[in-house]
Amino acid sequence: MRALVVGESGGIGAAVAAELRARGAEVVGLSRGRDGFDVTRPDVAEAQIAALEGVFNLIFVATGALVSTRVRPEKALREVSAEELAGQFAVNAIGPALVLRHAPRLLARSGRGVFAALSARVGSIGDNRAGGWYSYRASKAALNQIVHTGAIELARTHKRAVCVALHPGTVETSFTAGFAGREKLTAQESAAKLLDVLDGLEPEQTGGFYDYSGARVVW
Ligand SMILES: NC(=O)c1ccc[n+]([C@@H]2O[C@H](COP(=O)([O-])OP(=O)(O)OC[C@H]3O[C@@H](n4cnc5c(N)ncnc54)[C@H](OP(=O)(O)O)[C@@H]3O)[C@@H](O)[C@H]2O)c1
Repeated sequence: MRALVVGESGGIGAAVAAELRARGAEVVGLSRGRDGFDVTRPDVAEAQIAALEGVFNLIFVATGALVSTRVRPEKALREVSAEELAGQFAVNAIGPALVLRHAPRLLARSGRGVFAALSARVGSIGDNRAGGWYSYRASKAALNQIVHTGAIELARTHKRAVCVALHPGTVETSFTAGFAGREKLTAQESAAKLLDVLDGLEPEQTGGFYDYSGARVVW
């Protein structure tokens, strides 16, 4: 089992990489902090992905950001700005897309090949009752569409591929440090659950959006 973890420096990314290693996988990690893999510099990111050799049984994209130019996500329409929308799309939607575009080459064709990207339940339009968080929500909804569309294409050449968006739960990382009082999973708990979910998914379930318990999240 060979896995690529993009965003290995993150709270969930590090835990996913550690859990994979504990389960006996060979893990190749890529991250902004350690390798300069910055998705807001698409030419740099693209070159690093293009330089990867060999095939992977799992590509796990764990990058993402809650805000780009702001301190907190927007609460009201008057706070919406082109800069924040563009920043969030660059990291949360375009970033994983830059990795996914290499999945046809990087994912194993014989046997099972899994591509998973960390989305967020708040990217669900059907589940949105609270409003706010315009840029983050919209960028994750865009990511979901990209993953779903990629799954359709991948299925044509990789018959047993699974390509999905995942909601990791509310997880104790630097990402949620500003949200006190919420019940949070540890990154280790979330990582183990997400990997169990991926292990249990069948090719017929490709293109879906699943949470850490394996339940489908409404689009
Ligand atoms: N934590 C939660 O409760 C929660 C809930 C729902 C969804 N999620 C999603 O889960 C994912 C990971 O979250 P986390 O909690 O692990 O957050 P985190 O600890 O803040 O990790 C974020 C990761 O994204 C990377 N990153 C940020 N901007 C980047 C850029 N421009 N280019 C490349 N990499 C970039 C970071 O790299 P460096 O550290 O190297 O800069 C880090 O590896 C995110 O997509 C988030 O939306 C998290």
